[in-house]
Order: sequence, then C-alpha cells, then structure tokens
Amino acid sequence: MGKDLDKVLLTQEQIAARLDELAEQIDADYVGREVLLVGVLRGAVMVMADLSRRLHTPLEMDWMAVSSYGSGTRSSGVVRILKDLDTDVHGRDVLIVEDIIDSGLTLSWLVSNLRGRGTASVEIATLLRKPDAAKVEVDVRYVGFDIPPEFVVGYGLDYAEKYRNLPFVGTLAPHVYGG
Ligand code: PRP
Ligand code: MN
Ligand code: MG
Repeated sequence: MGKDLDKVLLTQEQIAARLDELAEQIDADYVGREVLLVGVLRGAVMVMADLSRRLHTPLEMDWMAVSSYGSGTRSSGVVRILKDLDTDVHGRDVLIVEDIIDSGLTLSWLVSNLRGRGTASVEIATLLRKPDAAKVEVDVRYVGFDIPPEFVVGYGLDYAEKYRNLPFVGTLAPHVYGG
C-alpha cells in the first residue's frame, strides 16, 4: 500500500467472498431466464469481470458510459450518455452492474432511462453503496457492502483515473485530493 492510501477497507478476499454470495443470490433469482448484464464504464469493469464469472445464469454483457463525476471527487448531478448500449433491451431482463452508488444520481437516472426502452425488468448489482444513496429513489437489489462516506479507490474505482487496478478497496489519504 503506497502512502496515497490511508487504509485497506476491503481486502481481495472479502470482495471475492461477497461476490460468491451475490452470484448465488442472482442465480437463484434468475432461474429460467437469461440476463443482460449492463456494466457502467469504467468503474464497473472489475465487478463485471469477477461477478459474471461466478454466474451460471445464461447471460450477455453490454456496456454504457455515462458522465457524473468528471475527474473530481464530487457528483455533479448531470448525467450524459457518452457511450450507449449496442443491445436492444426491449423485453430483456437487465441487471446493471456498478462499482459504487454514491449520491445515487447516476443509477436513478440510468434505471428510468432503461425502463423507458421497454425492458422486462431492471435491477441493480453494486459492490459498494454509500449512505447518501439512501436519499434518492433507487431500489438496489444486490449490494456488496455499505461503506462509510470516505473517498475510496481501487477495484475499478478511481481518483482522477488512477488506482483502478488495485485488487482491493482502500481509502484515499486526504492529502491526495486536498482534503
Ligand atoms: C462513479 C461510480 C459510479 C458513479 C456513482 O463513476 O463508478 O458510476 O460515479 O456516483 P453517484 O451515485 O453519485 O451518481 P464515475 O462517473 O466516476 O466514472 P468512472 O466509473 O469512469 O470512474
Ligand atoms: Mn462509474
Ligand atoms: Mg470515477
């Protein structure tokens, strides 16, 4: 752990064990159905890779890129599609895969956007959720960990595009982001 990080919040082993549980739940819920996993670029890449490989449910994967944070540490509330799905989701069972729900703004917007396309169902799987997410209307079916309101990086999560490749989730030292 470099000096940019305060501490490890979730180890590789903790993440793996929780993903095992979530995958088991998802498999049980989607029996007899095929699911379309929609990963939200770029943070969801690690969760998508590790969760999808644990699922036995028949699935497809697609990706969206939306903007919310920019390169800072705050949610802007402005959501823009930077890359749309290649898949027609009409009639599909969609499971959005996210690394973190912070304000919840990205997800609440995304869910209604996808429902507007005539999906059969839209659910959310996120590795992490922060307390503020409770303030907006997002019904999240699969949550890995509820975490404190600290700035976290690793396992897909970035600060100014760095640290995504850390295999664990750590909290960023305030001096890095000027806190
Ligand atoms: C982060 C994170 C979620 C979103 C959560 O993505 O990966 O997608 O913000 O924020 P919210 O709940 O406050 O809307 P970001 O926009 O930083 O893009 P990235 O995934 O490419 O890092
Ligand atoms: Mn993201
Ligand atoms: Mg980010």
